[in-house]
Amino acid sequence: MEYAATILALALAAYVAVMLLLLATYVETRFGYVGWWTAGAAALAARAAVELWTLRVPALPTFLTVRNALLLAGAGFFITGSVARDPRARGIILAGFLGFGGLVTAGVALLIFGKGEINTARVVAALAAGAAFLLAAEGYRRGEQVLDDMATRSIFAGLLTSGANLIGWAGVPRTPGVIAGSEFLGGLWILIFGLGLEVQSLQRARRLIVLGRISAVLQRAQGPPELLREVLRLTGELLQVHSGWVFLRNTASGAYELVAAYHLPEALARNDAEAMRGSCRCLDLLQADQLTQPVHIVNCLRLERIGAAAQHASVPLRSSAGIIGLMNLVLPGGRQFSQREMALLSTVGGEVGLAIEKARLLEELREKEQVRSTLIRRLLTAQEDERRRIARELHDEMGQSVTALILNLERARIEVEDGREVTAADLERLQRLAETTLEEVRKLIYDLRPTVLDDLGLAAALRWYIHSQIEPRGVTVGLTVRLGDSRLDPVLETAVFRIAQEALWNVVKHAGATRADVELVQEGERLSLRVRDNGRGFHVGSTRGSGGLRGGVGLGGMQERAALLGGSVRITSTPDSGTEVVAEFPLPAPAPS
Ligand SMILES: Nc1ncnc2c1ncn2[C@@H]1O[C@H](COP(=O)(O)OP(=O)(O)OP(=O)(O)O)[C@@H](O)[C@H]1O
Ligand SMILES: [Mg+2]
Repeated sequence: MEYAATILALALAAYVAVMLLLLATYVETRFGYVGWWTAGAAALAARAAVELWTLRVPALPTFLTVRNALLLAGAGFFITGSVARDPRARGIILAGFLGFGGLVTAGVALLIFGKGEINTARVVAALAAGAAFLLAAEGYRRGEQVLDDMATRSIFAGLLTSGANLIGWAGVPRTPGVIAGSEFLGGLWILIFGLGLEVQSLQRARRLIVLGRISAVLQRAQGPPELLREVLRLTGELLQVHSGWVFLRNTASGAYELVAAYHLPEALARNDAEAMRGSCRCLDLLQADQLTQPVHIVNCLRLERIGAAAQHASVPLRSSAGIIGLMNLVLPGGRQFSQREMALLSTVGGEVGLAIEKARLLEELREKEQVRSTLIRRLLTAQEDERRRIARELHDEMGQSVTALILNLERARIEVEDGREVTAADLERLQRLAETTLEEVRKLIYDLRPTVLDDLGLAAALRWYIHSQIEPRGVTVGLTVRLGDSRLDPVLETAVFRIAQEALWNVVKHAGATRADVELVQEGERLSLRVRDNGRGFHVGSTRGSGGLRGGVGLGGMQERAALLGGSVRITSTPDSGTEVVAEFPLPAPAPS
């Protein structure tokens, strides 16, 4: 008897412990279903207390009714909790309906017949409650969809075995030993259920902490490599994977490159991670647009080659413009990611993708800002230089010519006054002097803005510029023009002319070329200008670095001019293979005739 009471007290302690655990979880999370389960555990604890009481005092029928009612209520709360988790899950309504139906029927039967038939009442209550627990387990499984980690499996197993325990003992005659044994096992199964819930709660807290740390890294990291290294480390620690790495797409070349690694196997890290270059299965899948799921499990070629655990999870890093990289996490042999872990990885992949996109945009913006301020500074200086040049030319060239003209006219006047004759040759000399001056004025005007551009249009202005400025400097230029019938917008004409002028002047200045080809083509709603030379070429990337424009303002100015009109300039060049500048502009759609 004493022995039975002690065991029963242990069972009671287990129920109370689970109740408190559930209560704490409810207070922390405010999840409704945890509230129901707390109430269920409280009812079961109360029932165990009543059992303990009836061991000591003769069992009054009222006690037995209370005990049965508490059992039915406890089972009812548990099934409510399971159904309330996700009422939209498939088949859950049926599970709830059957469970409640059984409990209510048993309740009504007990009220009507229970008083006389104490044993029958107990059996009915135990069977209905047992069935309700089994259905609560099924309801939980349906809400969860898959039971793929220890926590969810414990919760499910706890509910299932609680049901089986109630049904199994239902028909066994009740001795103090049986009561204590059945309650003890009942307490044990509920304890397993409670521990599952506790583990889940701890996992949730851990995930939140790591997500918080990841989001702090996303905020403060100095650039994509540091950001990826930190996120990879945190994710690796959270999911307890051996190693991992991240490939990021190089925006210039489009190739995927290794930018961060976490505990990379020695055989892969050797020789500056040479084994990580080139394609592999995951990158092939990515490029073939077959890596569409948030997380993929891939049999890794690189890992196979070094004889290591051969699978990794691949998490695409998504930005608003599509996938920009891939985070790979090596799965230790036999390890699978649970759905929750997959969902977490997918969230991390999305966040990281957006953070990298933001960092890149900021970098681009900073670079553009620098280019712009350099341009403005140089523009102001260039304006002053231009004025100085005009002033000098007016002074040196025209000043001298006009002075010579005045002196010659003066001399002619004195000769006429002195009664001497002015000859035709004298007048012709004066006329040539005046013509030279006029020529100089024209040249100055043309340099400032070729009037041919305004008068005859873009094609004529290009022809004039090539003929007068480029070809005399030893570069043969082929010009192809295919424009529509109507004149282009004057602002666009000026922009295209200035870009062509700069590109051709660069050919003269830098390329050491013997030939250049200029193509100006209007196609539908696009205008494109192409200037190609056969010169020495250059490294395009090295003229524009983090420090803004290094060479001159020519190339930057081209880009700015085009951007102002919604167009773009693309420069392709490699040392020793010539340079090509392509400018493209949108044209307004032709007005319907
Ligand atoms: N066609 C080309 N062939 C070879 N190198 C070129 C060519 N065009 C440009 N470059 C290189 O790019 C650099 C930048 O050109 P950019 O036009 O911006 O400046 P710049 O010509 O040196 O000076 P600015 O145009 O301001 O007078 C040049 O210094 C030159 O090294
Ligand atoms: Mg230039």
